[in-house]
Amino acid sequence: MTSDWTGRYPWPADRTWVRVMNATTLDGSVGGADGRSSSISSPADRAAMAEVRRLSDAVVIGGATLRAERYRPLRAADPDGRRAAELNAAPVLVVISGSCDLPWEEPVFTESDMRPVIITSGSASASHLARARENCDVITLPGDTLGMGDIVAALQDRGLTRIACEAGPRLVAQMIDEDVVDELDITFSPVLAGSTSPAHTITSPRRWNLLEQWVIDGFLFTRYVKDDLLA
Ligand SMILES: NC(=O)c1ccc[n+]([C@@H]2O[C@H](COP(=O)([O-])OP(=O)(O)OC[C@H]3O[C@@H](n4cnc5c(N)ncnc54)[C@H](OP(=O)(O)O)[C@@H]3O)[C@@H](O)[C@H]2O)c1
Repeated sequence: MTSDWTGRYPWPADRTWVRVMNATTLDGSVGGADGRSSSISSPADRAAMAEVRRLSDAVVIGGATLRAERYRPLRAADPDGRRAAELNAAPVLVVISGSCDLPWEEPVFTESDMRPVIITSGSASASHLARARENCDVITLPGDTLGMGDIVAALQDRGLTRIACEAGPRLVAQMIDEDVVDELDITFSPVLAGSTSPAHTITSPRRWNLLEQWVIDGFLFTRYVKDDLLA
């Protein structure tokens, strides 16, 4: 990272701040040939993600991302710094999943420092819900399709206000459409990968303002915020 880049949240902790962290290839793919983001990432990209996690209350992903990527347990980094910033000991993993059909044997569910949270809808089966409750707190929200505002409000109710969203394009598109995202942290990976991104649409594209940019080893790191946040 550059010496002046801190990755910090640009807003006090009493205001919820949702920042999307995604990597993309030059042709707009979110994964390499294996479909995973790790194959289009770099050491500097992983360092940026770790730094944002260090400063976050929660890491939010969708069920498909959890199934596709091998998520390692979320552990405390810099406990003193987190305490000084009034953060929990470690970020809480939050998985958004209508089905609750997730790989419950993964260590991310059993070995993370904070108990993970599953946010689900009325469509999950009783057996999947029972399995989820073994190692996670389960929040069930009404309806078959979860509303993004309801998800953010549920996190806010638990005191999780600094939210890093590492989800894939389908969840991110809904968050953009429902206007709950404050910041986009996009890493441009210097490769072409063909089309490996899940289909998604954004019905009301908006303009974002570039806050910061820097280049490390050919990877372009950017931070964008909503235009009205700079006014
Ligand atoms: N390059 C990157 O930065 C990056 C980041 C993340 C992911 N990825 C890649 O992206 C791919 C996955 O993309 P994706 O867009 O499918 O991932 P995603 O958005 O993280 O996950 C989609 C899943 O989230 C749940 N979900 C989303 N919206 C919901 C709603 N309104 N109500 C209830 N559940 C909802 C569903 O889970 P259930 O099916 O469990 O119900 C759905 O299948 C993977 O290949 C992954 O490796 C890349």
